[in-house]
Amino acid sequence: MSTTENAARVLKSLKDEEWRTLAGLERASSGFGTPDIGRISRTSRLPPERARFATDALEKKGLAMRKGQGFVLTKQGVEAMALKDYVKKDLIYALGAIIAKGKESDVYEALTEEGTVYALKLYKIGRVSFTSIRKTRVVESAEFKSWMTANYDAARREYHALRKLEGLSQAFPRAVAYSRSTVLLEEVSGVRLSQRPILEDPNSLLRKVVESMRIAYVKADLVNADLSEYNILTNGASIWLIDWPQAVDASHPNARDLLDHDVKVVLAFFRRAYSVNLDQEKALGYVIGKSDSLE
Ligand SMILES: Nc1ncnc2c1ncn2[C@@H]1O[C@H](COP(=O)(O)OP(=O)(O)OP(=O)(O)O)[C@@H](O)[C@H]1O
Ligand SMILES: [Mg+2]
Repeated sequence: MSTTENAARVLKSLKDEEWRTLAGLERASSGFGTPDIGRISRTSRLPPERARFATDALEKKGLAMRKGQGFVLTKQGVEAMALKDYVKKDLIYALGAIIAKGKESDVYEALTEEGTVYALKLYKIGRVSFTSIRKTRVVESAEFKSWMTANYDAARREYHALRKLEGLSQAFPRAVAYSRSTVLLEEVSGVRLSQRPILEDPNSLLRKVVESMRIAYVKADLVNADLSEYNILTNGASIWLIDWPQAVDASHPNARDLLDHDVKVVLAFFRRAYSVNLDQEKALGYVIGKSDSLE
């Protein structure tokens, strides 16, 4: 069972003081050092003996881990807090099947009480291997802090980019909420272009991709900055541009270079995979709004 599935499973068994301690540990972990019971007791507003009791329980459930005199959260602990947050806000009700397992994130289905299915993206950037930690018990607090920062930032950045894109085009999945290292997204039903699905009209799909890049740039001032066949989904008729944590503002000093690169990668893929040609300069001019047509 994955850490995410475990996090979902332990959700119901956590007592109120364990939740408070988990949140207290999270708060204490964003500072320097590895918080000891004294600090956790202050940030969770529990007497030290209650905090110790709760921390022991969290450790048994795999949500926290001892490190010297102190404690760190585990990925499972972080994800349990995120799931609890969504459940408390009535956004989701249950965790469903895994949709994709990637290098930087895992994506699961998450279900609402009414049966709507969302895509829950859980970041796992960075080199802290929680499995190896459990074996070796070594994790530097600075390493953990940077893990937390990288993953919490990625989720928050992706959420804010998608909120800026909301309503501008069907090609951007709606972001519903974010919490900790996770972001809750509208589920879209496509396959990655990198799988090279057989397309009836690849030329028109490429135009939709370029059109969507233009909307992002002109209307939301955003450059995806990691666009490729891996971050474009399609069902043959529609396309979706996904994966926005690294998006930059149009005013960013490298925005134009990054946009140039995105355009280049997309055009090269369509040329290679579908023998569809589109001129790079023309496409770029269109995306930045310098021209109003791709012809
Ligand atoms: N909104 C969504 N609806 C449905 N599936 C999604 C959604 N977002 C992501 N996915 C699935 O999860 C995969 C990974 O998503 P994404 O590219 O955003 O994350 P990633 O961290 O870049 O993953 P990877 O390391 O695999 O590149 C997508 O290729 C797709 O299969
Ligand atoms: Mg991706």
